[in-house]
Amino acid sequence: MSRPEIQIRDLHKSFGDNHVLRGIDLEIGQGEVVCVIGPSGSGKSTLLRCVNLLEEPTKGQVLVGGTEVTDPDVDIDAVRRRIGMVFQHFNLFPHLTVTENLTLPQRRVLRRDKARAAQVAAENLRRVGLAEKANAYPSSLSGGQQQRVAIARALAMGPEVMLFDEPTSALDPELVGDVLAVMRMLAQEGMTMMVVTHEMTFAREVADRVVFMDGGVIVEDGTPEQVIANPRHERTRHFLSRLLDPAMADVEENNAG
Ligand SMILES: Nc1ncnc2c1ncn2[C@@H]1O[C@H](COP(=O)(O)OP(=O)(O)OP(=O)(O)O)[C@@H](O)[C@H]1O
Ligand SMILES: [Mg+2]
Repeated sequence: MSRPEIQIRDLHKSFGDNHVLRGIDLEIGQGEVVCVIGPSGSGKSTLLRCVNLLEEPTKGQVLVGGTEVTDPDVDIDAVRRRIGMVFQHFNLFPHLTVTENLTLPQRRVLRRDKARAAQVAAENLRRVGLAEKANAYPSSLSGGQQQRVAIARALAMGPEVMLFDEPTSALDPELVGDVLAVMRMLAQEGMTMMVVTHEMTFAREVADRVVFMDGGVIVEDGTPEQVIANPRHERTRHFLSRLLDPAMADVEENNAG
């Protein structure tokens, strides 16, 4: 593996009595794309949120680019500047134009001047194929376009690492492809990416590794070929079969219940 960009060591997270992450060990190399899959409630979002300290881990270490972000003395804002995050819901400011949505965090957090922030905004809107929407308001854009704006907003901060939490799962199916195309481009450009997704085609084609989580632990970690095509564990097989055939899962559930 290339130089590790994200190192997660024996990470635990509890919410009260709910022990959600139960010892996660994971290394992601520079430029590597890792897709995280697993059932609802397995701790995927919590894991991502611990990497950029939106959640404080209960135990364990996270290092990003060699800096321990879980060190109590760390400058959290400095860490977050290095990590871009894209969520299922894009959280754009509705009263601001697309460009203003991109320039605001650059000016506030990076203290860029107006002209420079606007220039970086324009560059990144071009990257995601939305240069012509610079002066539009979010409400006039499709969900897929809004998500690409959210990606451009994160990129405008110049992150070393991008975290994606189900970036396409709130979109109509016909809008998913454009967002995945932007993510594929980022992967090809060498961005280090951790992507929680149910898009198995994307995972197969773009991910260097796929991690299957269940019950707060990593059950399986390997190439897409290993984990998706030839899963070693019954839990992984079961999850994938439900994903590929949700109708069967309903039948199983009814039989079980
Ligand atoms: N802020 C919080 N406070 C209390 N409990 C939480 C919090 N965030 C997550 N949890 C709990 O942690 C567990 C894991 O949640 P998490 O959102 O990480 O799962 P997930 O794998 O992302 O699921 P999904 O596929 O539904 O998004 C769940 O039991 C959830 O209720
Ligand atoms: Mg989640």
